[in-house]
This record gives sequence, C-alpha cells and structure tokens, in this order.
Amino acid sequence: MEALTADLSDVVGELPRRLLVAGGAGFIGSAFVRLLLAAEGAPQITVLDKLTYAGNLRNLEEVEAHPSFRFVKGDICDLELADKLARECDCIVNFAAESHVDRSILDPDAFIRTDVYGTYSLLEAARRHHHQRFLQVSTDEVYGDVEAPHLSVESDPARPRSPYSASKAGAELQCFAYHATYGLPVLVTRGSNTYGPFQYPEKIVPLFITQALDGGPLPVYGDGGAVRDYLYVDDHALGIALVLARGTAGSAYNLGQGDPPLDGMTVARSVLQLVGRGEELIQHVADRPGHDRRYALDSAQARALGWLPLLDFERGMGRTVDWYQRRRDWWEPIKSGEFLEFYRRNYRPLEGAGTGS
Ligand code: NAD
Ligand code: TYD
Repeated sequence: MEALTADLSDVVGELPRRLLVAGGAGFIGSAFVRLLLAAEGAPQITVLDKLTYAGNLRNLEEVEAHPSFRFVKGDICDLELADKLARECDCIVNFAAESHVDRSILDPDAFIRTDVYGTYSLLEAARRHHHQRFLQVSTDEVYGDVEAPHLSVESDPARPRSPYSASKAGAELQCFAYHATYGLPVLVTRGSNTYGPFQYPEKIVPLFITQALDGGPLPVYGDGGAVRDYLYVDDHALGIALVLARGTAGSAYNLGQGDPPLDGMTVARSVLQLVGRGEELIQHVADRPGHDRRYALDSAQARALGWLPLLDFERGMGRTVDWYQRRRDWWEPIKSGEFLEFYRRNYRPLEGAGTGS
C-alpha cells in the first residue's frame, strides 16, 4: 500500500478536485477511495452507494472520519439524486454495478437496471453539470471468450456472452455515445479479474479462501480449465486513478496483470497450499452455462500512461489469504443468510455427484 500511495502522489494533483464515486462501498470502489484518501492532497470524495448485498460500510471504516470524505446512501438510478450530487462535484467515477456473472444468470433484471439504466442516469447528470471527466469502470468480459494466443486490445469488438457482460457492454456504448454526441469527456477502463481484501466471498478467490479456511469444499466449475488474468485490487485501483488523471477522453483502457492467465484448478491449488489444506477439498461441480473459457488482455495503452501492476499472483495471494485469515470478523457474518441461499441456488452437482454444500 505504501509503495502504491507513493506512485499515486505523482498523479493525485492531476485529478479533478471533487469526485463522486458511485459504488464506492463495494470491493474495488472502496479500495480506490482508501487509496486516494491516503495520498497527500487527496480530492474531496462523495461516495454514492445503494448498499446492496455486495456493498458494505465496513469497507470504508478506515476513511469515515477523513475530512475529505462523505457517504450518501442511494441508488444511481435515482435521476434526481444523481443530478443533485453531480451539481456538487466535477467528475464521476462509476463503480456501481451488479457485478457477479453467476447471479446475472440466475436473475438478470437488476443487472439491466443498475448497469445500463444506472449508468445512463449518471451520464445524464454529468452532462448537465459539464463535468471535467466521467470514468466508467468496465470489464475485460465485454470482449467475450478470447481464443489463445490472442490478447484483447481496446479496438477489438465487444462480444459479451453473459447477462452481466452484456449489461456492462451496453453501459460502455452509452458512455461512448455521450462522448460523441455531447462531448462529455468519458473514459472507460476494462479491468481483469480482481482479487484482494474486502471482496464479497462469491467470486472464485474469496470463496475458495473462506471455504478452505473452514475446511469446506472448493466448487470448481466443470474441468476447471477456464482461464482468467488475475489482478490485485490495489493495482486495479491505481490503474483507474491513472486513467482518470491522464487518459484521453473517448478512449478505453485495458487493465490486466499481464502474466499468462491462470485456470480454476491453479487458483484452487494455490489457495489450498497457502491455507495448508489438501486437494480432497476440490469438488468439481456442473459448469456455468455459457462459461467463457479465456480472457486475456494487452494493457500496453495503460502502461504508456505509467501504470505497472506491482504484485504478481503469488504475492497478491499471500496478502489476500493473510487478510482473510485475520478478518473472520468481516466475512463470517456475510457467509450466512443471503449468501447461503445464493450458494444453494447456484451450485449443481457434476453428473449426479453431490456438491457437499
Ligand atoms: P461489488 O459488487 O463489490 O460492488 C458494487 C457496489 O455497487 C456495491 O457497493 C453496491 O452496493 C453498489 N451498487 C449496486 N447497485 C447500485 C445502485 N443501483 N446504486 C448505487 N450503488 C449500487 O463490485 P466490484 O467487484 O467492486 O466491482 C466494481 C466495478 O468494477 C463494477 O462495475 C464491475 O463491473 C467492475 N469490475 C469488477 C471486476 C472484478 O473482478 N470484481 C473486474 C473488472 C471490472
Ligand atoms: P468469477 O470469480 O466468478 O469471475 P468471472 O466469472 O467474472 O470471471 O470466476 C472466475 C473463474 O473461476 C471462472 O472461470 C469461473 C470459475 N469459478 C469456479 O470454478 N468456481 C466458482 O465457485 C466460481 C465462483 C468461479
């Protein structure tokens, strides 16, 4: 964190001074807020967040007393609220989204509402108040399934294949339309699979870590051969800050860690090794419908702005496992109630075998 903050101090002076951070109580948004507020000369930050199942004010405890921080509970789809807050700011960074592919397969509705309509609502507010910048936090999943050895570049077409990635691609298209039509200075980042502290334990890394810590099953979809580029959360947050400060309006920027992507079995084995458990905990379950087999990014454009991820997977996972070991107080309450219901709905046995959930 210290090293990242030192890097960030170079760019913090280039940022707009009053940021509206939508979705700032979630995993990556809260890391972005903590990172900026730890830097000297930090901008004023208003977090707007609905506090869905994935939002958590505990993610912001570290900064709640900071004089440049304020929190507003609300929905980005609320046009009036978005307008009111945009009037008091000069830039929006939009992290707010329904963000989990598996939930989008079970219930797409909230994804269309928040990710598409909600982004429109914020764009409209930014346009009306002549904002200096609008940064849309998007995802490498908009490229869809990418065949090896290709690395996606920003000019590649969007071929989303899940309700989640389709809603994110729709939001991006609105952003580019606002740039072309109204001249709104829009930036889009396409980050890869992100992991680290404070991640709701439904995505692969925190799910597998918390399962392993409790001696429970690690549910690997299908053969566990689908690969992803895994990026440590502080590196992702720093990349977003750099694009916000230095990006060219109307452009998209890939943010990927850059090492060869890793498959699900490799992630599972890494977790088990770090937690000190055996491979008998790995349980193959029915594959995700429409499962994209591979995402991989070329991030040369963001590198040219001065972005370099600091942590490789081994070091990032070391830090992450250490955090989940220390912060049972954060994740144990989450892994009951709503989470258990989702888990029961989502995981199905592989060819009739039990999932052990
Ligand atoms: P998250 O699910 O942890 O956080 C999303 C936040 O948005 C939560 O705090 C939630 O309460 C809030 N939110 C949801 N609907 C809202 C609404 N209608 N109004 C206001 N707030 C609302 O997600 P994350 O993993 O931190 O992802 C943040 C962004 O980054 C998302 O846009 C996601 O698509 C993108 N992204 C995520 C990853 C990843 O691996 N997690 C990778 C690339 C891009
Ligand atoms: P996930 O963390 O859900 O991110 P995304 O679907 O956005 O890439 O999944 C990452 C990879 O891990 C993906 O190939 C699906 C796989 N996976 C499992 O094998 N088991 C699981 O329980 C989960 C959540 C994911």
